[in-house]
Amino acid sequence: MMGPMNERPPLQIAILGSGQGSNAQAILDAIDRQRLHARVVCVLSDVENAPILERARRHGIPAEFVSAAPFKTKLDGDGEQRYLDLLRRYGAEVVALAGFMRILKRGMLEAFSHRILNIHPALLPAFPGVESWKQALDYGAKVAGCTVHLVDAGTDTGPIVLQKVVSVRDDDTAASLHARIQEQEHLAFPEALQWFAEGRIRVAGRRVWTAR
Ligand code: GRF
Repeated sequence: MMGPMNERPPLQIAILGSGQGSNAQAILDAIDRQRLHARVVCVLSDVENAPILERARRHGIPAEFVSAAPFKTKLDGDGEQRYLDLLRRYGAEVVALAGFMRILKRGMLEAFSHRILNIHPALLPAFPGVESWKQALDYGAKVAGCTVHLVDAGTDTGPIVLQKVVSVRDDDTAASLHARIQEQEHLAFPEALQWFAEGRIRVAGRRVWTAR
């Protein structure tokens, strides 16, 4: 699986999340199975008792609650600075947003230009925002899926790195569709991160491709 790129040092990934951490778990599992040549240097959460922190600790990974107050939906000001200080201290090269429910602002975007990835549970640009799988179902879409994209100042608007498609079934509920999308997320995020680990990601405007 990992041939010559093993000669590169492992990619130093920081994970930011606010919730369950199933994507963080998938990243950790991919590393354990040697599908991803990386090390998770820390997991940071803006939610004090988020399960994602517990999962990381069980894995022996530094996991910290970092307040983003007083803001509710963005990472800005002192909160942004707290995150930046920790990301530098832990030596993060790439930031993986795994269910981090905040919009990033300039300080963070400039410090990690083209090095912040987000996973979104829809085929962007369709259905940005929250509960995207439900939006797709309610709209009557026949395909749904997930998107790994670079993060910019918008909400789910950055250049697309990778997408995986899921068929919508006639008998799908929001829960069943979400579960199948999450299965694909757990494949997509480690895959996209491995491209970074291999140094293969190239970006030109909105276009992202993987160099051989
Ligand atoms: C995922 O569905 C992801 O697409 C969205 O937030 C959710 C996080 O789930 N951005 P988890 O915390 O990784 O389980």
